[in-house]
Amino acid sequence: MAPSYFLAPIVDSSSTFKDDIFKGKVLFCTGGGSGICKGMTEAIMRHGADAVIVGRKADRLAASAKELSEKTGKTCIPAQADVRDPKSLKDAVQKTIERFGKIDFVICGAAGNFMAPISGLSENAFRTVIEIDTLGTYNTIKATIPHVRKSKGAYICVSATLHYRGTPYQAHVSAAKAGVDAISNALATEEGPWGVRSNVIAPGFTSGTEGMRVMSGNKSNTADGFSNPLGRFTEIPDLANAAVFLFSPAACYITGQVLPVDGGGEHLRGDFFPYPQSVLDPSSIQKLLKGKL
Ligand code: COA
Repeated sequence: MAPSYFLAPIVDSSSTFKDDIFKGKVLFCTGGGSGICKGMTEAIMRHGADAVIVGRKADRLAASAKELSEKTGKTCIPAQADVRDPKSLKDAVQKTIERFGKIDFVICGAAGNFMAPISGLSENAFRTVIEIDTLGTYNTIKATIPHVRKSKGAYICVSATLHYRGTPYQAHVSAAKAGVDAISNALATEEGPWGVRSNVIAPGFTSGTEGMRVMSGNKSNTADGFSNPLGRFTEIPDLANAAVFLFSPAACYITGQVLPVDGGGEHLRGDFFPYPQSVLDPSSIQKLLKGKL
């Protein structure tokens, strides 16, 4: 009988990193009111940082900031801004400086997504996603960089793996995220000599997020026939752990990198034979294999 399919555990960053690695640090996070970026913010606060979460919806931001403060014992404040509007972002940065005096870490995470074919996508729809994801990342970096230079801090841009291949109905998002990766790479080389690092986290399909809801048509967070090397969808703690590592001193020599957190799914070309059954039980495809089992 073939061994059972391994499922990666879901672990919390506090099982690996010390509680105080971000003591005295300040995080500025766009898209921090919900989903992946809220999870990253919570983890970074659990290791000692205060945070400002930025988004469009004031009510949701206020509720999330309160929840994050209560859960972590650190201070999180909301700053309402649209990343497409440089003026509102500058005001959010100003609010951060007035409250905390500095910015050490920035997560550029605000994003928009919907499924649409190129043939049915309006110019405005395409532009809207580019403006939120790509221009929004640029605007966030532009508004924060003087402060991040001062603190010799670091950036994380939240991207995707969609654009590594041709993902149907995601031309707008794929183009936008390719731009995000490019901005982060350039930022790493321009700002490295100032002591600033920049890296990208590229989530796989992530359970419990708006992106998953949009792409799975409101179905559950599991899909028939889904498989990847580590056996499950990405979970928010997987991404939070990557963010904690990339901001930590342990990553002080890592910059200009794109880190897919997708259980190895991006590398899988398993369309020709059943996966993972064929690697758990090679005899099931014995006819195709030349070597000894
Ligand atoms: N299919 C096709 N076009 C769509 C669309 C969809 N599902 N949703 C929006 N658009 C188009 C609109 O029709 C409009 O184009 P038009 O003027 O030619 O009609 C354009 O995109 C702008 O839409 P609008 O709703 O005015 O923009 P917005 O700034 O209020 O919101 C999004 C844009 C992308 C943020 C919105 O679609 C959204 O809220 N998505 C869910 C959030 C999300 O996906 N988060 C997870 C990120 S991974």
